[in-house]
Amino acid sequence: MTAAARVDVHSHLLPGLDDGAADWDEALTLARTAVADGTAQLILTPHVYPEVYDNRPETIRGLTAEFQRRLDAAGVPLRVRPGSEVFLVPETARAWRRGELVPLGGEGPYVLVEWNMIALPPYVEGVLFELQAAGAVPVVAHPERYLPVQRRPEWLVPLVERGVWLQITASALLRPRRDPIRRTAEWLVRRGMVHLIGSDAHNAHRPPQLAEAYRELGRLPGGMETLAVVERATAAVLAGERIDLPRPAVRRRRRFWL
Ligand SMILES: [Fe+2]
Repeated sequence: MTAAARVDVHSHLLPGLDDGAADWDEALTLARTAVADGTAQLILTPHVYPEVYDNRPETIRGLTAEFQRRLDAAGVPLRVRPGSEVFLVPETARAWRRGELVPLGGEGPYVLVEWNMIALPPYVEGVLFELQAAGAVPVVAHPERYLPVQRRPEWLVPLVERGVWLQITASALLRPRRDPIRRTAEWLVRRGMVHLIGSDAHNAHRPPQLAEAYRELGRLPGGMETLAVVERATAAVLAGERIDLPRPAVRRRRRFWL
């Protein structure tokens, strides 16, 4: 992916919907930051969390269209698309089947999901399965931030093997080398388990920047292979089409029968 065509698949720039941008001024300022950093397209993924952030699809799609009009009027060369970051609850697959969730990019099977960072809710694996059975491709947002994943990243291997995608946060690759978030992200990169990269931008402290992380990724073991996967996966998300991607490069423990 050339820098001019870079796509940010995770951001909280739509104002007033969650803990991201507060108003249109901040949204436009962040959009200019993204463009200056080389981003050409950006998917808006406001949190969807029952009773906390009850963001309806029509609200997200309507505000995305308004944001595009404001960007065009201000001469900011950025294309925005709708999406959502869905906090998994036991009813999430039903909401997907009813069309109550905005897929990543606005159309297609990809849905960005997250859950509690501290402890794994017992229903998560079942709901990911249900989403897949309902035709979705779940994309786990920032897997490197979950404490149980930092302790045992192998837990993600069977999920990825059955078709769940992982989206790391760009800034994870720019943390100190021994930081557990960075170490987990690098573990995933080495094993070919990273499919998408996003900024998870919220504000000036968490800005919509990708370029430096892409440069760092190119220097990591497995980084060039990951860049190739990210390019294909990002194109598939924008097209709303399914693709088959390489399986994770994790060696299974062999069993010896005596
Ligand atoms: Fe997010």
